[in-house]
Amino acid sequence: MCGIVGYIGLNDAKEILLKGLEKLEYRGYDSAGIAVRNEEGVHVFKEKGRIADLRKIVDLSVTATTGIGHTRWATHGAPSQLNAHPHQSVSGRFTLVHNGVIENYEQLKKEYLLDVALQSDTDTEVIVQLVQIFSNEGLETEEAFRKTLNLLKGSYALALLDREAEETIFVAKNKSPLLVGLGEDFNVVASDAMAMLQVTDQFVELMDKEVVIVTKEQVTIKKLDGEVVERAPYTAELDASDIEKGTYAHYMMKEIDEQPLVMRKIIQAYQSDQGELTVDEEILAALNEADRLYVIACGTSYHAGLLGKQYLEKMAKIPTEVHVASEFVYNMPLLSANPLFIFISQSGETADSRAVLVKIKELGYKALTMTNVPGSTLSREADHTLLLHAGPEIAVASTKAYTAQVAVLAILANAAAQSRGGNLELNLVKELGIAANAMEVLCDTKDEFEQITRDYLSTTRNCFFIGRSIDFFVGLEGALKLKEISYIQAEGFAGGELKHGTIALIEDGTPVIALATQESVNLSIRGNVKEVAARGANPCIISMKGLEAEDDRFVIPEVHELLTPLVSIIPLQLIAYYAALHRDCDVDKPRNLAKSVTVE
Ligand code: M6R
Repeated sequence: MCGIVGYIGLNDAKEILLKGLEKLEYRGYDSAGIAVRNEEGVHVFKEKGRIADLRKIVDLSVTATTGIGHTRWATHGAPSQLNAHPHQSVSGRFTLVHNGVIENYEQLKKEYLLDVALQSDTDTEVIVQLVQIFSNEGLETEEAFRKTLNLLKGSYALALLDREAEETIFVAKNKSPLLVGLGEDFNVVASDAMAMLQVTDQFVELMDKEVVIVTKEQVTIKKLDGEVVERAPYTAELDASDIEKGTYAHYMMKEIDEQPLVMRKIIQAYQSDQGELTVDEEILAALNEADRLYVIACGTSYHAGLLGKQYLEKMAKIPTEVHVASEFVYNMPLLSANPLFIFISQSGETADSRAVLVKIKELGYKALTMTNVPGSTLSREADHTLLLHAGPEIAVASTKAYTAQVAVLAILANAAAQSRGGNLELNLVKELGIAANAMEVLCDTKDEFEQITRDYLSTTRNCFFIGRSIDFFVGLEGALKLKEISYIQAEGFAGGELKHGTIALIEDGTPVIALATQESVNLSIRGNVKEVAARGANPCIISMKGLEAEDDRFVIPEVHELLTPLVSIIPLQLIAYYAALHRDCDVDKPRNLAKSVTVE
């Protein structure tokens, strides 16, 4: 979703801002812009489309050492040059970029801006015009900014330039992520540390409802009431090479290939001196005190959560519910007496999940966040964090974060089971190692999946994924992968559920990808395949060694039956990848989607 960068220092701001925006491209956007300030004034360049389009219109002869930049993912107003950020106040004195949604912008327009000729359809423009109005009333810029912030309802990360305030960027945030980066003779602003790793690895977290005055020498953080806050910087532990594509054509393929390595990193990260996989004592205590776990997540992370429920109930015997965050927040179930909430989020910034976290914290409940991003909002605001150790995931379609989530959930459930004195027959270190090896085998068999994609998906407009038990949940994730990047309409179903309605959609040649990795349901899923084949479907069975049958299209290596999702998802990720590629879709940046969904 929208991304913000800012630079104030001694060097030319344009290139630093554009490079920063390129690093934020993965978040998803439809237009972009920068504004730079020099002694002549503020120069704004913005364009619909990609950063490459923006680069074409930036006037290289303008030099400036202060600037802000933005990638926009449209919410209020169509993607267009007019609605792209930065936005300026009518006098041109104030220039602003914004990430988030101002919920009361219509009301603010009516109350304060009836006489102002607004230039865009965005909620953002209201903010910059309000700053102008309060400044016209005689307030200093910082005060005018603060007064405006006090009126805003909703989420925002903001960076503001004042043509008349030499070399200052005014920054604020509420619910949307924003960091300040520190350097020698310069400072930067970024939605994500990745954007500014090019110049610094020292960052300061900002909290909601803080105002920050950034100059090239100093960063002053204040609360909305003006009280100054001291906060130490942290070192962003990101390797710049982690966020490069290297020899790969797409991040998605790089990230698919990284999965075996991620499994090994997770084993290392969670292995105790005794060689067992475990988690912090405090987390185990929180789990053991709970009478029910509530897993909250969205999209792919929700699909991982469905598997987490299997692990937590089967291994640790703790009753577990899994909820889609955007529903839970408005339709909360009757909670048990001692609930523990587990948030699963690759980015740690998903607004829907955060809304639940805020709500349950108000109710006094404890939360554990499982995330790939240390220091992310969901991590900071929860009581405990478990890291995924997957390394930066750049492609919008989540792959390695999903398998990392599944593995960490298995480790959590296994550790909880052990701490409860459960009799475990699963040697998780060994079994995860076997799964990592099996993942490697599949990553080395890519051509096979390219061929399967040609055979089954080259002309189709839809595709079904079926499975039973654990395979059903993997099918849901396979369908999400396929639809989000290839735009083929894809749905996952429980094998037994088809005949209760969906089988009506089966026509001659409809591709049905069936997973058969679970012994207990092997015969019944094969029965479901026969039912769809009898109605003309083109079934593609992906089974597991030991359970295979003659017509299976692919057989994955044998792994422990609870860990099959780590391996069986790889064919589905690869099929989605090749389907998108064959259809000339933008694999890493699918239309309408954002990597980090920071608005509800
Ligand atoms: O960062 P999160 O895990 O909280 O994101 C949740 C979903 O937006 C995300 O998993 C989305 O469904 C993926 N892009 C799908 O590949």
